[in-house]
Amino acid sequence: MKVLVTGGSGFIGSHLVDVLNEQGIDVTIYDLDAPRYNQKCGYVRGDVNDLSRITSVTIGFDYIYHLAAEANVNRFYESPYYSNLITSNSTLNVLECARRNNIKRVLLASTEWIYGSIIGDENDRITEETLYAQNPDHLYTSSKIASELFCKNYKTLYGVNYTIMRYGIPFGERARAETVTPIFINKILNNDEITIHGDGSQTRQFIYVKDLAEGNAACLKQEGENQIFNINGCEKISVIQIVTTLEEILNKKAKVKFIEDRKGNYTGRIISSEKAKKLLGWEQKVSYRDAMERYVKGILK
Ligand SMILES: NC(=O)c1ccc[n+]([C@@H]2O[C@H](COP(=O)([O-])OP(=O)(O)OC[C@H]3O[C@@H](n4cnc5c(N)ncnc54)[C@H](O)[C@@H]3O)[C@@H](O)[C@H]2O)c1
Repeated sequence: MKVLVTGGSGFIGSHLVDVLNEQGIDVTIYDLDAPRYNQKCGYVRGDVNDLSRITSVTIGFDYIYHLAAEANVNRFYESPYYSNLITSNSTLNVLECARRNNIKRVLLASTEWIYGSIIGDENDRITEETLYAQNPDHLYTSSKIASELFCKNYKTLYGVNYTIMRYGIPFGERARAETVTPIFINKILNNDEITIHGDGSQTRQFIYVKDLAEGNAACLKQEGENQIFNINGCEKISVIQIVTTLEEILNKKAKVKFIEDRKGNYTGRIISSEKAKKLLGWEQKVSYRDAMERYVKGILK
């Protein structure tokens, strides 16, 4: 089985490549950046928007995971045109090369953001049946919704199979420095102040990146064909809990400053990954506390 991973040199993609490698799958990374983690896999330097290149590279491949995108929402805000090109436009390119080469399936990296960032309270349970945000308040959300819709269009119009994987908030080894967990770790280690909006009781679900990678790999199963899956952690973690967990692991007190809550900052909601458990047999394996401990100990080594 031959699998191409666009964005395979990135945070999540590199872990996915590791899991696929462990399963003995023939993996090739397609990315502008070279792999950084000594993985034994193929590598093609290429742009996801270069349709002729990705089409010629994927001849004879079975599956394409499409993870390349602008994953940093702040950069998306600063540079919407280019960010959309590498996010939703690139999805069209990948689907088109899949159509031309009779690829068995395209597996798209999407996000829980497509449900909207404001809806929901503690008792709301979001499943794959929940509607897309009707008034997305971020370009990133719109671009991912468009990517999902393109997958559905390519299935309806050209018979290209898809799997949509809606990730929760990943953390762990190789995380980009601008994400919340590395920011908090660095602030505690450097005695810098952590600013929390509101009282810190608002919760989010985090997913350990290695669990997320396994969830991605499980989507290759036949049961994953033309399905959408939430792939998320099952614990509700408050902002305060992130800080106290890190204080315990680092054995160091954090300096925390509470400021006025952000307008529309939602308190929490539950995104259910039950469908992935039922159909794919996947669920979070490592607890938030244990995953954080592994991650932080790796950083301090
Ligand atoms: N990290 C998160 O918090 C998060 C949450 C939900 C969903 N996602 C989605 O998961 C996917 C992976 O995210 P990540 O955090 O690993 O991002 P990342 O930035 O670490 O990795 C993205 C990779 O894509 C590559 N890339 C960018 N533009 C390219 C282009 N034009 N051609 C080829 N390669 C290109 C980059 O070189 C990089 O290796 C993205 O689709 C992202 O939107 C991420």
